[in-house]
Amino acid sequence: MSIISLTDITASYGSKGVLKHFSLDIGQGEFVMLIGTSGCGKTTALKLMNGLLKPDAGRVVVNGKDLADTDLTALRRKLGYVVQETGLFPHLTIEKNISYVADLYGKRDKKAVRERVSQLLALVELPEEVRRRYPDELSGGQKQRVGIARALMNSPEIMLMDEPFGAVDEITRRRLQEEIGRIHRQQKETIVFVTHDIDEALRLGTRIVVMDEGKIIQDGTPEEIRANPATDFVKKLISDR
Ligand SMILES: Nc1ncnc2c1ncn2[C@@H]1O[C@H](COP(=O)(O)OP(=O)(O)O)[C@@H](O)[C@H]1O
Ligand SMILES: [Mg+2]
Repeated sequence: MSIISLTDITASYGSKGVLKHFSLDIGQGEFVMLIGTSGCGKTTALKLMNGLLKPDAGRVVVNGKDLADTDLTALRRKLGYVVQETGLFPHLTIEKNISYVADLYGKRDKKAVRERVSQLLALVELPEEVRRRYPDELSGGQKQRVGIARALMNSPEIMLMDEPFGAVDEITRRRLQEEIGRIHRQQKETIVFVTHDIDEALRLGTRIVVMDEGKIIQDGTPEEIRANPATDFVKKLISDR
């Protein structure tokens, strides 16, 4: 049973075609890495999964619901979405940033919300005291952790992550990778993670989907991709490391 299913999708921006006859099925609990060069359509594929973008043709089904006739607000409540720029609100404290989605959807139990924020800060290994700070009082890596905590606030079954660690230094990136790996092992969400970094893909994914020019050119486990790169493009990705 797939939890996310894109079937025969055509997607474009105006006259610019991006995806054509694109199909991808993702099972519950998979950690899927979408990898490919800039502009190949990774973000487009991710935005189709949370309804931020509508396909010109084809079907998107998430959690058994066809997005063409689903209340997207209700859907997004169950999806965590993390982007590179973190999208934190500069005028809200870290606490308010993390609990934003809970507040938005009318969770009135303030104590429960506070406790959940504490739990999430611990999970992403941030000290309690950051909850009263503002985003510009945090390092890049800490902001990314807040972004992850916020996406986890409503215990989503699905996490969509778009190059979430692109803007941090190598050491911080390694730590964040370890963290999201641990969170996945503990909580077993389905994760779709966009990257252009093959090392990151091989390290984190249970499955790697290699894209080029809007098409999937290989789909397999890290071991399969390493052992049998399907095309010269994939060979080059692996050997350029
Ligand atoms: N809002 C937009 N309007 C027009 N073209 C876009 C828009 N967003 C993305 N594109 C184009 O669509 C293609 C795929 O983009 P995207 O999915 O963001 O690629 P990736 O995430 O793999 O780098 C690129 O050529 C990009 O320039
Ligand atoms: Mg992108």
